[in-house]
Amino acid sequence: MKKLSPNRTVACNPHLLALAPYPPGRPIEEVQREYGLKRVIKLASNENPLGPSPRAVAALKRHARQLHLYPDGNVYYLRQALSRRLGVAPDQLMFGNGSDELILWLALTYLSPRDTMIVSQYSFVRYQMAAQLVGARFKTVPLKNWQHDLPAMASAVDKNTRAIFLANPENPVGTMVGRKAFERFLRAVPRRILIVLDQAYYEYVQASDYFNGIEYIARHPNLVVLRTFSKAYGLAGLRVGYGVAVPEIVKDVDRVRPPFNVNRAGQEAAAAALDDAEFLQRSISVNEEGRRYLYDQFERLGLEYVPSQTNFVLVRAGREGKDGAAVAEAMMRRGVIVRPMGGFGLKDYVRITIGLPRENRLAVRILEEIVRNADRKPPHKLQ
Ligand SMILES: Cc1ncc(COP(=O)(O)O)c(C=O)c1O
Repeated sequence: MKKLSPNRTVACNPHLLALAPYPPGRPIEEVQREYGLKRVIKLASNENPLGPSPRAVAALKRHARQLHLYPDGNVYYLRQALSRRLGVAPDQLMFGNGSDELILWLALTYLSPRDTMIVSQYSFVRYQMAAQLVGARFKTVPLKNWQHDLPAMASAVDKNTRAIFLANPENPVGTMVGRKAFERFLRAVPRRILIVLDQAYYEYVQASDYFNGIEYIARHPNLVVLRTFSKAYGLAGLRVGYGVAVPEIVKDVDRVRPPFNVNRAGQEAAAAALDDAEFLQRSISVNEEGRRYLYDQFERLGLEYVPSQTNFVLVRAGREGKDGAAVAEAMMRRGVIVRPMGGFGLKDYVRITIGLPRENRLAVRILEEIVRNADRKPPHKLQ
């Protein structure tokens, strides 16, 4: 047996050793401490800049005295409310500690080490991590013009393929594929293959050919649609996501789901946020305004960006001698946290979450100074 170090007397599962922990956006408090900054804004994790829905906050306050009790493992009230809202049966809903958790439960339920998951290039990395966690393989299909290449994804299916995970709109790129392309894809993929359509940014999409994935479940029982309360509903800190599928899939996932995975506070707040139509509308219009502002500014600065259907924009902020990570680091030192995209193979890019108007202005002002300084630097002399 291989000798372990004095502090490592217990061996880690070998298939996990290739996995690096997911690097989340850095918390505001950590950046304040590290750089000695009073004011820091975070435009790195696609959170809602308006804060939580006021109705959700009121529900949380009312509920604070119940926190000694375990949550309802069946998520009864939120299930009923969502079932009415979405027009699906209550037993078609599964809930997770964020939709992130459902990604893992779905992988655990349906993938084994013999299987392969298909994902898109630059995909939300939690999909491939979920495959790796269960010892399965993943196959990556390149994007085409920054969009999912659905025909190529369907053609990539082979006898080992067990699941396809697809964020639409995509994170971190921000693009989406339309209804017709998705319908062709559904028809092309064999029904034994699980298709997970992740619509985390559903509420923000403005494109007219976008679609509600839930409509296809009746005809395609291999489809699971994921949504979240973390983005447009402003509840990322409470961790509530859900999936819609045929009841058989919900029952399968229930075999692996821990009984109390969605906490009490989250269930209450999510049900209240669902009823807060005004907040949702405001979230969408603030995002729209910010998106247009950022496009205008990126164009003024001559920065390439990818038009987005989400609450973030991928922008090529890197310059000769200063890649996206260096730009993100320079912005962080000045109190604006954005996400460098080098880890996705997009070395020159950063992803900027759309904030409040004043946050967007500040981000642009700082970005402009950094980019202009990079341009002023003399080019490297050839020896
Ligand atoms: C495409 C996509 N899916 C899922 C998630 C996870 O969201 P949550 O776990 O907060 O519901 C995110 C978060 O950024 C995301 O971008």
